[in-house]
Order: sequence, then structure tokens, then C-alpha cells
Amino acid sequence: MRLTITSIVFSAAMAGFVLAQSPAEAPKAKEDSPKDPAVPAQKSTESPKEMPPVVKDAKKTGSPAPKAEKSVPVDRFSPTPRPERLNLTLLEHPQSRMGVTWRTDSTVTKGMVQVGPANNSGYAMRAHAEKGTGGFRTIEAKTTPVDAGGEKAHYHKVTLEELEPGTLYAYRAGDGNNWSEWHHFRPAKTGSRPFRFVYFGDAQNDVLDYWSRVIRQADRFSPDFMLHAGDLIDRGENDKEWGQWHAAGGWIHASVPCLPTPGNHEYSGSANRKSRLTPHWNAQFNLPANGVKGLEGTCYYIDYQNTRFISLNTNEKDRFEEQAAWLDSVLSANHCRWTIVTFHHPVYSSAKNRDNAEVRKFFRPVIEKYKVALVLQGHDHSYGRSGMMAGAEEADGSDMAKRGDTVYVVSVSGPKMYQLNDRAWMEVRGEQKQLFQVIDVSADAIKYEAYTATGEKFDAFEIRRDGARNKLVNPGEPIAAPGGPLMVLWLAASVVVLVPVGLLGIRFARKVPG
Ligand SMILES: [Fe+2]
Repeated sequence: MRLTITSIVFSAAMAGFVLAQSPAEAPKAKEDSPKDPAVPAQKSTESPKEMPPVVKDAKKTGSPAPKAEKSVPVDRFSPTPRPERLNLTLLEHPQSRMGVTWRTDSTVTKGMVQVGPANNSGYAMRAHAEKGTGGFRTIEAKTTPVDAGGEKAHYHKVTLEELEPGTLYAYRAGDGNNWSEWHHFRPAKTGSRPFRFVYFGDAQNDVLDYWSRVIRQADRFSPDFMLHAGDLIDRGENDKEWGQWHAAGGWIHASVPCLPTPGNHEYSGSANRKSRLTPHWNAQFNLPANGVKGLEGTCYYIDYQNTRFISLNTNEKDRFEEQAAWLDSVLSANHCRWTIVTFHHPVYSSAKNRDNAEVRKFFRPVIEKYKVALVLQGHDHSYGRSGMMAGAEEADGSDMAKRGDTVYVVSVSGPKMYQLNDRAWMEVRGEQKQLFQVIDVSADAIKYEAYTATGEKFDAFEIRRDGARNKLVNPGEPIAAPGGPLMVLWLAASVVVLVPVGLLGIRFARKVPG
């Protein structure tokens, strides 16, 4: 009983205390507050949240009063000791080799990659890497300093060799103290097994804001590699823009190898300096150096599962003649089933008031002489795709031959768009669309599909062999039986041989007495 009375008294005292502490009824929020953004909001009496706290009596605390600094954008792309911007690239003999690059700040003076067969246990994989067991190796990197917007950065480059074709590998990059996460990749297979790659036109502008969704959408198709037809960013020597490109792809760049060709925006000049390829290019892309001397990493070729990919550098006009001669030599010695060529400036332009007459003059005849199946280009910030073309010397392609062997494509993956110029060479055209192309290659066909940034199919066709010629097959069109003309010859030969043999057999049977 005493306990109950004590409890009632204590509860009443607490209730009185709580009531005394409560403010008067809070005013209701105005339900009819202006929602129209055109109506100016009432001036807030509160201090802006981003202002630093005011220290009223600095002398007493002994701390200096912080300066009210102006808010500046955070530079999220400054280099750090951590390995960042990991990037895989295809090299000559992609079934046994792979290029790796990454970036750190300049305090990191050495780099290395640990690589071995991917393991389901991450800790087991790390133990193997540290001991050099289980097929794991450590490969030292070559380190190059590159200016990163006034700061020095170090790019580290490794060529992985003696890889097993088609095997799933794991690797990490670092300096022994700071490591990247583990990434997976798979070198090319041998022979003419089917594969898939993605082709991007110019990403170029506001890459992190608007191109990131395109590369992520493209990655859903699980390509074996990604080809970029130049103008990956807008200002080739601007480190922050490269930071955006790497951030947009993130771990995709570290696990899906790329095959880039440079555009005019990877070149820059000034009043005192001739236009030059950005030093970022060969520092961050470990690419083949098997092309014209002096154009390493921009003019090159690789053979990927029985398809020859060739990159030409259409920014180096002084060297078009040399590149055309090199292209002829590379194609004359080509034993691959298919050939695909990429460069930035299109043979036939798709945008208004544009033409690259010298690209057409030097490269088109060689491309068509060797029946290159596909030419993948950029630069015109719109979409244009030809039928099977040959022989057109005019800019609009109006003088093309009736039958050709090459499909020319111009595409764009970034947000900047140019007005389309509807020209005779275009079989399919498009504008105001960020696109990517998914291309499946097999011994029988090159199956091409263009998709928009939102994943809608925009264009599709197949290239098939028709004897020694290339043939374009549109969706829904019947595909001739494999070896069609050969089959007809075989049937004709059978008739010529088998019918007389049959007749002789009948005559012989009649002569033999029953
Ligand atoms: Fe361009």
C-alpha cells in the first residue's frame, strides 16, 4: 500500500515536470504554402547549413576562429596512393596476353599485378598470390608520370603473358601495401569460336552524368570486350574528364577489356605547340605497337578468335599514305575469317556540313579491295548505317556500285547530338539517340544490333558469306543454306556421275541370265 501511494506521488510529479518542459502547441505547417517555384520563398532567418560554426570566444578556447570559406566543388579525381582507374586492354595474341593499367599519386613509385586462376575462396586466392603458388604470379609494372591537372600522377602498366586461352583469371593491382580489389577477366579463346563485343561511338561530353548509363546498359550483354571509336572524352589532356570516363565504367573497365581508337578530342594543340596525342592515352591504355612507327597504340591490329580488328589513326593526316600502305600489307597477309576496321572520322559523314574526303581517298579503296566486312566510326554525333557498299567516291555515296562487301557505320554513345544529314549512302539513320552496338561474331555470320540508352533495339542486320563475297541479311529475310552454291554444284556432279553409273548397272543386270 505504501508502495502504491509512493508510485502515484512520483508519477504525478513526473507528469508535472514533463508538462512544465513542453512548449506551447507547435504552430501547424501552412498547408497552402506556395508550391510554385516561381513564387519566391520567404527569406530564412537560419544560418546556411554549410557555414562553419562560429566560435564566440576564440581567446578563451585558444583556438583560432575558422575562416568562412567559399564552397568549392570537391575534386573527386585527385590521385591517391590507392590504385584507381584500373583498365584492361586487348593486345596482340589476346588468347594469351592482356594489358593492365592503373593510376596512383606520385608517392607510389612502383607497381605490380598479382594474377592467377580465379578461385571460389578469396582468402585461398590471396594466400596463393602471396606465396606464388596455385598458378599465381606477381608481375612488376612500368611506371610513367603524367600531369593530372597540376598534380603529378603515376600510371602503372603491366602486360600479362602466357595466359591460358579462355580461362577465368583473377588479378589485383597495387604496390604491395595498397591493393585494388580482385577482378576477373578471361583471355580470348583459340580458333574461330563465337564471341561478342560492344561498339561505342563518341562518349565525349558529360561522360559521368550521361554516358555511365550507356556503358552499364551495354555491360548487361556480357561482351568479351568493348570497342571505342574515338572521342572518349572532350578535352584529351583534362585529367578530370578522364576521371569521369573511368568513374562511369568503374569496375567494368577493370574486367572487360577495351579496344579504343583515338578521336580528334584525344588530340590537342596550342599556339606554341603542334597538335599532339594526349599523354594520358598510352599511359592508361596498354595497346599494341604493331602499326606504323610513331603511331603506337593508335594504329594497330589484333586477331581475336579468327577476326582481324584494325585501328587506324585518322587524326594524323600527314601519315595517311603510310597508314594506307600499312593497311594494305596487313590485309594482304590476313587469314582471318572476318575483318573489322575502326577509326574516328567517317568515310561517309552522317552529320550536316561534314566530310572527310582524305579518309575516303586513302582508306576506302584498300578497305574495299580486301572486302572488309564492317567499318566502325564516330565523330558525327548521329547514326548512319550503309548497306553493302563499294566504289562510292562522292561524299553522299550516290555513285556507289550495285553490289559491295562493306558496311559503314557512324554512331554516338554520349549526349551531344548533331543534326543528321540524310544522304544516299545511309540505309538506316538516326538522331538524338545515345546508342551502343552489340556485335556477335561467329564463323557463319556477324550479327549486329544497335540499342538505345534505354535498351530498345534500334537497328539490326547480319553479314554472311556468299562464296568469297559478303552479303547483308535483314531481319526476317531467309538465310541461304550453308554452302548454297556448293550444294548446287554437288547435286549437279551427283547427277552427272550417278545417272550414267545407274544406267550401266541396269544394262549389266539385263545381260546377266536369271
Ligand atoms: Fe570527333
